[in-house]
Amino acid sequence: MRKKIVAGNWKMNKNCDEAEELVVQLVVGLKNLDHNTDEIVLCPPALFLQDVTLKISNSSKMYSSSQNCHTHESGAYTGEISAKMIKSVGATYTLVGHSERRMYNHESDEMLATKVNTALANGLKVIFCCGESLDIRNSGNHVSFVTTQLQNSLFHLSDSDFKNIVIAYEPIWAIGTGVTASTEQAQEMHAEIRKFLASKYGQAIADDTSILYGGSCNPKNAKELFSQTDVDGGLIGGASLVASDFISIIQSF
Ligand code: PGA
Repeated sequence: MRKKIVAGNWKMNKNCDEAEELVVQLVVGLKNLDHNTDEIVLCPPALFLQDVTLKISNSSKMYSSSQNCHTHESGAYTGEISAKMIKSVGATYTLVGHSERRMYNHESDEMLATKVNTALANGLKVIFCCGESLDIRNSGNHVSFVTTQLQNSLFHLSDSDFKNIVIAYEPIWAIGTGVTASTEQAQEMHAEIRKFLASKYGQAIADDTSILYGGSCNPKNAKELFSQTDVDGGLIGGASLVASDFISIIQSF
């Protein structure tokens, strides 16, 4: 059975005190709360990853994630963070391929394939982000664009490695814009992604892979999005910065 996952991508937000306040609010708010989400994943800025990981360590269903990791395990890469370091502070996941990193840091599909390898080799699970721009959506080529991203960065993986991958479909035109993909648009793409995964890894692995939706997901639209057959949760940006909003999204299954 694939897991229902709600992940909060804090991006470059919060200072040290604010990050602590948010994680404490979440831990307290989620304690003894009835919900059907299998995994809650917090992706704080790397600077706060260790503290956040420690603070959630006694909470059930809560995991932490880095927002990025480097292609190399160590070396002369000033300012970078390796999968080994992320693993060593107790994090479970790393995001790979977020559209903001693809855009601002010129991360190619090939580079992302290397990041995925390094993350998995160091015992991290990967939330792999994919998604098309508005131009590509309008041209009608969105499905082939996204499946090509998946093919280029993930399809070299063995079946057993692929089981450590979660997919996050995030249409770029919906990220931080307040424009959400309609439930039909989300379901269509998620179903296409699952079909594509099945063509490579077989139906059983495809059915077991969690595919999250990301892009202006909020407490108002989460329930409808999460009710779609192939939507297994969300990667939440803005709405993950406010504990009550994030908790309400967690309760949307
Ligand atoms: P958003 O961001 O929810 O603020 O649109 C989602 C993301 O980029 O992961």
